[in-house]
Amino acid sequence: MEMSSVPEKKRVNAGLFILIAALATVIVGSFAMEVIARRPDIKVTKHRITHAERAGFKEKVDQMVARYTVRREGGLPIVHPPAGSDIYLLARNYDWGKFTLELEKGKPYRLHLASMDMRHAIVVHELKLMNRIRPNEFKIIEFTPEKAGRFKLICGEWCGTGHSGMVGTIIVTG
Ligand code: CUA
Repeated sequence: MEMSSVPEKKRVNAGLFILIAALATVIVGSFAMEVIARRPDIKVTKHRITHAERAGFKEKVDQMVARYTVRREGGLPIVHPPAGSDIYLLARNYDWGKFTLELEKGKPYRLHLASMDMRHAIVVHELKLMNRIRPNEFKIIEFTPEKAGRFKLICGEWCGTGHSGMVGTIIVTG
């Protein structure tokens, strides 16, 4: 009797351990997101956006690209808006607008972020940018790039078959 009850207990313990480990991962993960969201040097505000306003948003992106393209790299416009200005990114399946933003280190920017179609998330690890965006909202992210370099702008929210290819670049000049 005793011999057979031991493995059973072990199995229960293993199951419990996995459950606790999974819970701990979720709790620690969301806590980490909170800490990042509360970084005092990054201020995020959320606003509602209607279908019509989203068209206006796209126009602002196009205007920024037309006005501040300084050169091209591999066919992609490199867009260098004035330091301290409003900048725009419109996420969609599966790109960030087919241009590269070039920013200046140590200068503040107001990044307006919206989505054309579904939930995406902007992630630039080196700049500590990590923000989800839904189609019915836009966010204004006030931040200052503190690191110079060439960074990958990836999508942090599963958005379909092209999700892993939804990669852009952000350049920060030193
Ligand atoms: Cu967009 Cu994943």
